[in-house]
Amino acid sequence: MTKTTIFTQLERDHDKHRELLNRIEVTTGASEERKQLFENFRTEVTAHAAAEEETLYSTMLAKPELRHDGQHSVAEHHELDELMAEIADMDPSSPQWMQKFKKLKHDYLHHIDEEEQDMFPAAEEGLTEEKEAELAKKFKERKPKEYQRALEGVDMEDNRE
Ligand SMILES: [Fe+2]
Ligand SMILES: [Fe+2]
Repeated sequence: MTKTTIFTQLERDHDKHRELLNRIEVTTGASEERKQLFENFRTEVTAHAAAEEETLYSTMLAKPELRHDGQHSVAEHHELDELMAEIADMDPSSPQWMQKFKKLKHDYLHHIDEEEQDMFPAAEEGLTEEKEAELAKKFKERKPKEYQRALEGVDMEDNRE
């Protein structure tokens, strides 16, 4: 099928994220490139997750049979968010930075693999084609706006205990 759906849009983003993670992993400590690529990754993933929540997950949360899957992914978004904030505060040239980054890479890959293998197929079964097209349109609209918010650092720091 060549039609663009919410799922193909999300998967296209995921492939971009996989590539960025691989590129960051081979950077050297304290290089401008490492800092820049990590910032790109964080901004991109923050925008992706927000637009994903506003479209697919808010729809899943409203459906009792998809709610549990939706809650699971949204909780992971929150954990990943905190992990990215921790890394952003670390010295990129320290060995601990790469250790944390490897944890992020592992956890993020697990998250998107699970979305692609479990969450999206479950959602696809429970949603009409019409709804999927509507979500695709909304995602396309929201993603650049969320990217702008992430660039400006809105919601990137949560100071609550
Ligand atoms: Fe996600
Ligand atoms: Fe995703």
